[in-house]
Amino acid sequence: MSDQAFVTLATNDNYAKGAMVLGQSLRNHSTTRKLVVLIGPHVAEPCRDALHSVFDEVIMVDVMDSCDAANLALMKRPDLGVTITKLHCWTLVQYSKCVFMDADTLVLSNIDELFEREELSAAPDPGWPDCFNSGVFVFRPSKETHEELLKFCAEKGSFDGGDQGVLNSYFNTWATADISKHLPFIYNLSSIAIYSYLPAFKQYGHDAKVVHFLGKVKPWNYSYDAQRGEVRGHSVSPDPCQMHPNYLLQWWQLYAASVLPLMQKAYGDAPFSSGFVDQSSPAELHQDVREQHQFPPPPSQRVSSEERKQRWEAGQIDYLGDDSFSNIEQKLNSFLK
Ligand code: UDP
Ligand code: GLC
Ligand code: MN
Repeated sequence: MSDQAFVTLATNDNYAKGAMVLGQSLRNHSTTRKLVVLIGPHVAEPCRDALHSVFDEVIMVDVMDSCDAANLALMKRPDLGVTITKLHCWTLVQYSKCVFMDADTLVLSNIDELFEREELSAAPDPGWPDCFNSGVFVFRPSKETHEELLKFCAEKGSFDGGDQGVLNSYFNTWATADISKHLPFIYNLSSIAIYSYLPAFKQYGHDAKVVHFLGKVKPWNYSYDAQRGEVRGHSVSPDPCQMHPNYLLQWWQLYAASVLPLMQKAYGDAPFSSGFVDQSSPAELHQDVREQHQFPPPPSQRVSSEERKQRWEAGQIDYLGDDSFSNIEQKLNSFLK
């Protein structure tokens, strides 16, 4: 199986942390395939050393950027132009078949069976299910395909400014041609979908094999209180309850147990951001930071129905509080009765 590999991408140190957690989760579930990470020149030296401890190959690539501000703005993710760097995964011709996985994915069980699938196999995107989500896909490295993809990208651009737009336009028969190329959703369960279709998550969620922390806020934007074993809000992210707390906790537990020690060894005495809550800082300080960054108020603080509606429309949904499934169900039942 040495000619097959799982591949990920990290152009900076934060995504490199995610890549290490992903790589370690694949190892913990005894993958028999090689692990490869593509990195950009901005990944710090010690971080590269730590990546070497998890991955069989750490490969430097040219970072490409779509610079397509207009389409990226539609997704409210100006940072995602660099994701077209993903297209370089087709250059890995030392492998006959690969599975690409975003650095914000976490593997929950062995998924080596994905190598039985053909190019281009992927799961539906939760936002537009006739498109595939490019966070997890099976592909065959090929210089020819790589060149064609770059040419396609240069000539036609990407409808979302990132790799997913190009790949869906290039592999444009995915939705209709061959059902075996549709990966079950459990191979790319995005945390967004959990809340947008909670009954389905309740029914099928226990079979999840890969969780994808899709969206602006990533696990590494939170912080971790190792003493209490709790994930906390962080200066750039909202309350942790907006992501499924269990998966988020699993991510941090893996990071704390297996990745942080590698980073500490690689960095030695040099400072780096561990993501751990500073044990010496009092709880009030943490509260101050939250207020400074204007987080949505905690769920216990009651707000008017109109304000709740406005927050919902602005994407600030209190999934585990006022806007929880059971509350919505109760409301619907009251109308039906
Ligand atoms: N990525 C990266 N650097 C960046 C942004 C993205 O290396 O600055 C890579 C990383 O592998 C990431 C993938 O591109 O997982 C796709 O981006 P992201 O996961 O943020 O997109 P989302 O899934 O949230 O739409
Ligand atoms: C998506 C995918 C991600 C991709 C991005 C940009 O939402 O999850 O993998 O890089 O869009 O196209
Ligand atoms: Mn992603």
